Amino acid sequence: MMENYLLRAKHENYALGSFNVNTYDEMVALCETAARLGQPLILMASMSCARFMGEKTFVKLVQALNDAYPIDVYSHLDHCTDQELLLRCIDAGFDSVMFDGSHRPFAENLQITSSLSAYCHERGVLLEGELGVIAGEEGPVKSKFSEFTDPDQAECFVRESGVDFFAVSIGNAHGFYKGEPKLHFDLLEELVRRCPVPLVLHGGTGIPQEDIRRAIAMGICKVNVGTEIRSAYVSALYSYTQTHEKGDVRDFVKYLRAAVGTASERYMECFAAAK
Ligand code: G3H
Ligand code: ZN
Repeated sequence: MMENYLLRAKHENYALGSFNVNTYDEMVALCETAARLGQPLILMASMSCARFMGEKTFVKLVQALNDAYPIDVYSHLDHCTDQELLLRCIDAGFDSVMFDGSHRPFAENLQITSSLSAYCHERGVLLEGELGVIAGEEGPVKSKFSEFTDPDQAECFVRESGVDFFAVSIGNAHGFYKGEPKLHFDLLEELVRRCPVPLVLHGGTGIPQEDIRRAIAMGICKVNVGTEIRSAYVSALYSYTQTHEKGDVRDFVKYLRAAVGTASERYMECFAAAK
């Protein structure tokens, strides 16, 4: 069984940055930044990334980066609603996977997550589960509104399902926030008290640094960031084409990597500071 590396983070009160990636240059940029700051890193494939890159390729790339950099780099499947794909990713050697049953009724989410956790644990893979609804859009999982994680249900879900990490809805949302994000720290405090496993904060993009630090100090052990990375990548590509002559494309990958590095640093600074 793979060690639950987030438990170490929980005991030592720090968090791991967990970033959505779609390209190898994003992966390298994130590894470079994390290595410079001396912190471990999780690279996440969405369902569509796992499908187009291929789950085996994704695992191999992350393993190669883990070998190449002096930090721990883990592979994770994010927000998976397709059980067949999730099983393929487990068999391909992902370090952890997330089954997102948050849109299903509680009993069904619990039942599927429990059976997946047995499968994961037999193969040494860690499982993330979720309860409550996070507003916004992440692959096939979308909602206009949040439904905060209920502490009674959360306690039961974590105890019965056997999940290794648990994603909570406490005011966080996917995508760019409309207005200032408002995390409900009193709810987080109760969830940390009642759920013994490491908690995960999704929707990292746009959460102020002080709120991320506060959430980590209270017990968040994994912070997911996607939109900001994608946006930095695409904006850099756009501005490159605006500032370079047609045909002058020699250093575009360096340019993209620099943009992703800068975008991720703002978040990584919080994880390092919380150690
Ligand atoms: O699971 C992925 C994250 O929750 C990403 O959220 O795109 O709002 O940063 P974000
Ligand atoms: Zn998410």
